[in-house]
Amino acid sequence: MRNVLEKLRSQRSPNQVRHKANLDNIFRMQAVIFIGIQASGKSTFCRDRFFKTHIRINLDMLKTRHREKIILQACLKAKQPFVVDNTNPTREDRARYIGPAKDARFRLIGYYFESILEDCKRRNAQRTGKARIPIPGIAATYKKLILPSYAEGFDELYSVKISEKSDSAFIVEEWPDEI
Ligand SMILES: Nc1ncnc2c1ncn2[C@@H]1O[C@H](COP(=O)(O)OP(=O)(O)OP(=O)(O)O)[C@@H](O)[C@H]1O
Ligand SMILES: [Mg+2]
Repeated sequence: MRNVLEKLRSQRSPNQVRHKANLDNIFRMQAVIFIGIQASGKSTFCRDRFFKTHIRINLDMLKTRHREKIILQACLKAKQPFVVDNTNPTREDRARYIGPAKDARFRLIGYYFESILEDCKRRNAQRTGKARIPIPGIAATYKKLILPSYAEGFDELYSVKISEKSDSAFIVEEWPDEI
């Protein structure tokens, strides 16, 4: 079996090998970073789109930055695609992941979730238990929020809007960098 594999490998041209490596990079090594205030739809979108393929890094679940860092490093080391499902309102918040992911040659993909304070407050009010965040917490994140830009190091950047038309749908658009 091993011999067969080695034979197949030796028959590939260097170009084919390089092409394969590029495809691996493009499709597998993804660092996805969410940006958006509370109740903007991040975790729902994460479940919809990344549940089967990406590790979810979420501070509410992990509780400490220390644990978050360990999981992040593990994903980078293992070349495991991941999603940072945090609010990430500032450039500094995003840089925490962008720098190490770039160094590990991951493809950086950002999703900005439309963060209209009144809409998010309304959706938050419909949540129950611990999921319902105190309003000052949402307002504080809103105040800190800086729109993302490609200059931060993103290879791809998108905006995500919750569709009012049909239930549980999202409208994803490419991010215009002039914002
Ligand atoms: N596409 C959608 N259509 C309708 N309702 C949605 C949609 N996406 C999310 N919601 C609702 O909005 C609320 C907030 O969604 P979600 O928990 O995904 O937000 P979040 O950005 O992860 O918030 P947090 O930062 O607090 O974790 C939830 O009650 C969810 O059911
Ligand atoms: Mg969430």
